[in-house]
Amino acid sequence: MDTRTSYLGIRLEHPFIAGASPLGYHVDAIKRLEDAGSAAVVLHSLFEEQITQLESGRVAHMSVYDREFEDALAAYPGQYEYPLGPDEYAEHVYRVKRAVSIPIIGSLNGRTAESWLKFALIIEQAGADALELNMYDVCTEVSAPGAAIESRLVSVVRELKRLLKIPLAVKLSPFFTAFANVAYQLDAAGADGLVLFNRFYQPDIDIKTMSVVSQTELSTSAELLLRLRWIAILHGRVRPSLALTGGVATVEDGIKGLLAGADVIQMVSALLRHGAGHIATMRRGLEGWMSEQGLSTLLEARGRVSLRKTNDPASFERAHYIRTLHNTVIGG
Ligand SMILES: Cc1cc2nc3c(=O)[nH]c(=O)nc-3n(C[C@H](O)[C@H](O)[C@H](O)COP(=O)(O)O)c2cc1C
Repeated sequence: MDTRTSYLGIRLEHPFIAGASPLGYHVDAIKRLEDAGSAAVVLHSLFEEQITQLESGRVAHMSVYDREFEDALAAYPGQYEYPLGPDEYAEHVYRVKRAVSIPIIGSLNGRTAESWLKFALIIEQAGADALELNMYDVCTEVSAPGAAIESRLVSVVRELKRLLKIPLAVKLSPFFTAFANVAYQLDAAGADGLVLFNRFYQPDIDIKTMSVVSQTELSTSAELLLRLRWIAILHGRVRPSLALTGGVATVEDGIKGLLAGADVIQMVSALLRHGAGHIATMRRGLEGWMSEQGLSTLLEARGRVSLRKTNDPASFERAHYIRTLHNTVIGG
């Protein structure tokens, strides 16, 4: 059974990899992922705020010594609350690379096109096989037009492509006016991979204390469908590899991602719930399904349920929308 795939130009034995998470904090945990069969590992992120605080004593342009910003800064973790400082992160990449033989993808997480980006080079020099850039930004600026936000994202990608020799993947939010065009612009800017999608951690409100409650919940398969839709729309229509992240809990979820056209499936919540061994379950499940379907290579399945062969994807989407409304049975 040939389950091989290629992601960011890197050949992998199969498509299941560990996504960015605390599973990347320790060399031992990464070794366990390798032993359990993870085809590659994305490390947890190094954050822009950590880098700027170390280099200039500023977080989001606010000085940590300025009392005026005390409240705003209190919401950020202190420098010592991150598992690794910026220099330690590079050292960690170096040590991980010496300990395992699977590809290791570093992760940078930020929102501006500023000097912190040079850390990408340090991660490359430490030996990372690729870099994942997560521009996680909830733009609250009422006067900022969508085009300006897209343009900032594209310029960061262009700048990183100018700096780096290793491949660059971009982890994205689905909340753009025209997501397909954002993918197209990132393709033109040289991105080697698109990672769909960031989960937006949505704070709730506690009505007793009348305050915001931050919550982190692991995902469920319910989050998969948005990812399937956009992978299916983009498969074969943009050059960068496509990684699916978000909502892959079961073997069936993973197979759906591949049928939609994903080159790799990143997993976090399922691994935190079931342990690293879940990767082997995913691979065995994929092989079992391929055998039932009479498929000898993954290539025969990938993108089989994408919109690649549809002449007019927009009308396909619209037709399904109308059909769904018509088929909805209203209860008495
Ligand atoms: C505890 C935890 C920590 C995470 N840390 C990071 C991170 O450092 N950088 C990042 O880009 N994504 C991070 N993520 C997001 C995951 O990489 C992934 O995109 C998200 O959890 C959706 O995938 P899943 O449904 O398989 O969990 C984290 C997720 C969790 C649950």
